[in-house]
Amino acid sequence: MAVSERLCLPADGVYVGTYIGGNGIGENAVEQPAALSLGRRPTFYAESGMLLLEAHLLDFEGDLYGQDARVRFLHRLRGQERFASADALVDQMNRDVETTRDWFRA
Ligand SMILES: Cc1cc2nc3c(=O)[nH]c(=O)nc-3n(C[C@H](O)[C@H](O)[C@H](O)COP(=O)(O)O)c2cc1C
Repeated sequence: MAVSERLCLPADGVYVGTYIGGNGIGENAVEQPAALSLGRRPTFYAESGMLLLEAHLLDFEGDLYGQDARVRFLHRLRGQERFASADALVDQMNRDVETTRDWFRA
């Protein structure tokens, strides 16, 4: 999702976190481990890229578009990086997901 620049936010980067969905707060809320990215996708865009918050949910299949959600930032993994290729970015994102999995196991 696009994020308002007027919010008070953590530093751009990649985080271990959770995605809280189910359109719910309280009893209906489902909290799912996720690798979170907050940033401007420097691999593809210059500094002027729009600020995006993305949540890669672990072990989840389904369509969450259009639903309300919250995220919880738990642990910072790294800053946003500019990769030489999309493949290099995908490799790093796969490592981020595995690190997130390990973090929840520990
Ligand atoms: C865990 C994670 C880490 C990411 N790290 C970076 C990064 O370091 N650099 C970057 O340019 N984009 C990063 N991204 C954002 C990707 O560029 C973005 O997900 C990708 O462009 C797919 O966009 P699309 O779904 O609009 O095609 C990250 C995304 C995720 C989920």
